[in-house]
Amino acid sequence: MTKRSLLQELAKNFVPPNLLNLVPKGFEVIGGIAILNLPRELEEHKFEIAEALLNYLKPRIRLVVRRSSPARDPERVHSYEVLAGSGGFETLHRESGCTFKVDVSKVFFTSRLQYERLRIANLVKPGETIINMFAGVGPFSIVIAKKVPGVKVYSIDINPEAYKLMVENVKLNKVEDKVIPLLGDAGEVIDQYDLKGIADRVLMPSPEHAINYLSKAVEALKVKGVVHYYDVACQVKSLNDHLTSRISSILNGAGIKWEVRTIRVIRSVAPLKIYLCADVHLDKGLKLIAKQPF
Ligand SMILES: C[S@@+](CC[C@H](N)C(=O)[O-])C[C@H]1O[C@@H](n2cnc3c(N)ncnc32)[C@H](O)[C@@H]1O
Repeated sequence: MTKRSLLQELAKNFVPPNLLNLVPKGFEVIGGIAILNLPRELEEHKFEIAEALLNYLKPRIRLVVRRSSPARDPERVHSYEVLAGSGGFETLHRESGCTFKVDVSKVFFTSRLQYERLRIANLVKPGETIINMFAGVGPFSIVIAKKVPGVKVYSIDINPEAYKLMVENVKLNKVEDKVIPLLGDAGEVIDQYDLKGIADRVLMPSPEHAINYLSKAVEALKVKGVVHYYDVACQVKSLNDHLTSRISSILNGAGIKWEVRTIRVIRSVAPLKIYLCADVHLDKGLKLIAKQPF
């Protein structure tokens, strides 16, 4: 017999045995909120499952919800159905020695990127200038700022709610001297604040938008630098081929040397679809006039 997950153990008293394997193996926790991903077949048992989970995890968890719509573009915000508990969608999430205030009904946030945020922070060298083009409430930027001395992170998001929370989170984590929150479209903000040719590293943690902003990310880099490019790829194809065709369609012909040094598979997001990050090292080989970032 296969080992049952916590949720399956809790559900076995009221979910019929033939449906028990449809009970998810895991769930996401953001601060005091647990997020379940229940299939339609479990509709009539959803409240019982959520109540059982809440009772088991109280008081650490005070609300159990289910995502009720796909993420809305461009902000990638989900809608939620409350299944058990109370207290609203705003919560404080702790990770890697940082605290993030999040309202899951107004902004995108996932706790599943904790390792990825640490991985990127561990690559950053003291004193680097970084641009985070899709910063959300600031988790990548703030983890880097907390861990690496002397960095400056320009942190952009188009969602005014995410920007507001990012400003709060920067204060909450006491990194006001290192993280600069900026509101707007990443491409327009880079132009507006003249952030071209200033970055050692550009983060693009939005697989839905990264490809369309890749040439802008390269403009923002110094002569040499790194772009952390996020994408979704089909599992059955070679990841190298996928990335080569995507990236070369934007960068080849521009006289830029580039090399994918690392591909990190983050997780699967749909059957045969994986979410990945490519660490792309670039050499523009151009003589850029050094600009003074503000
Ligand atoms: C997948 S979320 C990632 C958020 C954040 N990096 C995190 O890990 O929590 C993508 C973010 O990009 C923002 N976004 C979408 N289009 C944008 C654009 N054109 N310019 C700047 N931000 C954008 C969304 O509002 C959202 O917060």
